[in-house]
Amino acid sequence: MSAVVLDGKQMSASLRAEIAGRVQSLKEKGVTPGLAVILVGNDPASEIYVRNKGNGCREVGMYSETVALPGDTDQAVLEGEIDRLNRDPRIHGILVQLPLPAHLDEAAALARILPEKDVDGFHLLNAGRLMTGEAGVIPCTPRGALHMIRQTGLNLSGLEAVIVGRSNIVGKPMAALLLRENCTVTVCHSRTANLAEHTRRADILVAAVGKAGLITGDMVKPGAVVIDVGINRVDGKVRGDVDFDSVSAVAGWITPVPGGVGKMTITMLLQNTLEAAERMV
Ligand code: GUN
Repeated sequence: MSAVVLDGKQMSASLRAEIAGRVQSLKEKGVTPGLAVILVGNDPASEIYVRNKGNGCREVGMYSETVALPGDTDQAVLEGEIDRLNRDPRIHGILVQLPLPAHLDEAAALARILPEKDVDGFHLLNAGRLMTGEAGVIPCTPRGALHMIRQTGLNLSGLEAVIVGRSNIVGKPMAALLLRENCTVTVCHSRTANLAEHTRRADILVAAVGKAGLITGDMVKPGAVVIDVGINRVDGKVRGDVDFDSVSAVAGWITPVPGGVGKMTITMLLQNTLEAAERMV
């Protein structure tokens, strides 16, 4: 193996120590940053993510509230809960865990969250700010991925960045962030013809498609930074979108799964919640 492993656990630990310090400073001013997470239904993966978010809050001294609603909750009840949390002065960040059950209108729910409490950065106003380069909330996973890319110490300006996946949660905001860093950005997706032709050009390769082991060593440029956003459950094990063994023999840097981007996502949620609270003081 030649690649340097970018350790999300280690990076998270140092970021969380800094966040905890800033939470303490806010508490001394009488404000405890608070995050509310709304979970509709009982999808097992979502339940784990929501529990981890609550644990993250407690770790850094934040207030955490989980609103668990039954799977048959209707849109009016969901939006009523969002309205209540919008008004609650103890809550600085609101997150609606996705995906919602199919009968609910995801876009309408996200639009209901006050943009200043939208710690996911999914509100159209924050998505628009990211596209135009104005200050706003940056979605947690791309923010965490960019932090990891910066840890390589490379000058990102002018590098070829290839993102595999075009989701609103990762692919699209990741493209906007890397464009802001002056990378030349290509976004690939399920209909891309000859994926490997694109990925082999990448100085920075971000895989966010949800297909275990899709990216193999022969698809990677020697010395590239490879960021694996995938979390796939295969035979009871968690695997990324990147085939770690073959890619780590070629890449310059690589993020592991688990212990990579996933851990950073929650850390960036805590960071976004802290910053939302600091802006409200
Ligand atoms: N589901 C998967 N990832 C995310 C995320 O970053 N935020 C929310 N709200 N739901 C998710």
